[in-house]
Amino acid sequence: MGSGVLSALLADAGLRDDPSLGLVMGEVPLRDIVDRTGTPTYVYHAAIIRERFTALDAAFGDLPHRICYAVKANGNLAVLRLLSKMGAGADIVSGGELLRALAAGFSPDRIVFSGVGKTDEELIAALTVGVGHVNVESLAELRRLAMLAELQGARVTVGIRVNPDVTADTHPYISTGKGGLKFGVPTDQLDEALAILDEASHLTLGSLAMHIGSQITDPTPWVKGLERLCELLAVARAAGHAPTTLDIGGGLGIRYRDETPLTPAAWITPLIPMLRESGCTVQVEPGRYLVGSAGVLLTRVVHRKHSGGREIAIVDAGMNDLLRPSLYQAWHEIVPVQRTPGEEQATDIVGPVCETGDFLALERPLAPVAAGGAVAVLGAGAYAFAMSSNYNTRARPAEVLVDGDRWAVVRPRERLTDLFRDEIADPFAQTEAP
Ligand code: LLP
Repeated sequence: MGSGVLSALLADAGLRDDPSLGLVMGEVPLRDIVDRTGTPTYVYHAAIIRERFTALDAAFGDLPHRICYAVKANGNLAVLRLLSKMGAGADIVSGGELLRALAAGFSPDRIVFSGVGKTDEELIAALTVGVGHVNVESLAELRRLAMLAELQGARVTVGIRVNPDVTADTHPYISTGKGGLKFGVPTDQLDEALAILDEASHLTLGSLAMHIGSQITDPTPWVKGLERLCELLAVARAAGHAPTTLDIGGGLGIRYRDETPLTPAAWITPLIPMLRESGCTVQVEPGRYLVGSAGVLLTRVVHRKHSGGREIAIVDAGMNDLLRPSLYQAWHEIVPVQRTPGEEQATDIVGPVCETGDFLALERPLAPVAAGGAVAVLGAGAYAFAMSSNYNTRARPAEVLVDGDRWAVVRPRERLTDLFRDEIADPFAQTEAP
């Protein structure tokens, strides 16, 4: 990794490498957090999240727009509250995220409920609190929602998430806009969807929506997708519907390694003529862009070993804490919290979990970090804590929010005994034969 790229990555996170203090986020030396909170710990930088929201907001100029943060990227209440205060709405995909978003202070009308498999309970919860848009992803779901809304006597504004059949150049697991995948209503079923809406007394078509994938760094798929949405808007209008919103989803990529991510302006500007022409409010659902670069995972080296010609640093964060390297072969830059003199050496940085796939980085040039030394894994604000688990009965990390010179734990490290607190060791004790 060139030093230019590393500087860019540090700047993205609002980090500087101080010769005596080590890595400093805002005005907080990360070593203070390591010392006081222990490791592994996720740390999020409020100033970066605000900066990103403001930059994205500005990219729309005077175009009417709503930014609905994709809660799945990082659902910590402190992150949600911060974005809610900035004026964001929330894009949610489960009943759990609905509760989170409400607890964090999002008003229901600023919530859009997406997802391919919403259950009756989840749809009823959405109807009960009155979420702004329910984005349906199949005809079956639309029929179900129509029935439930009538039963509940609740009116609801519906978005039809269509599958625009465009491919985005990203990891196949996070490309969602291609025909034949589980996402969205195929465009050739739109007429049928509109017919269902005609019959549904409690449903109003509010938006046409798409989400073509994640970590995208080229505007072309959105241009193609929006062209498709605009054609479908004409179809919906001709059929007597009057959607007022076009939802172009999330997916704006960030820098993890040497990508050249799109700026918000480079993302939105090519879409503006079509959006203006449509007369609709544009809605976006970014997750990663708002929080991804703003987070680091702090982890300490437990042991070092040399095996089969490879240098191995075993750290106290594993695939259960940060799954992206194992699941997507994702690159996360890793930087010592406190630099020590010495040559970089190709190092496997692995976790303690009993799986060969449990690594944060393989053959990564790393400055010498002795056992007990801490490193920061960059780009860990999105889909990081959110995808963590208790595999190997490991407590999930603490989460910390840094704001200027202040920092606070916003989720304590889990307690090990809590992990099995609700389990029942001997369920048939009462009924067993003597
Ligand atoms: N809207 C919908 C309907 C989505 O499915 C997603 C993400 C977003 C918005 C937000 O996308 P973003 O702006 O964050 O790219 N775990 C993967 C990413 C999965 C994305 C799932 N959907 C990863 O770690 O890369």
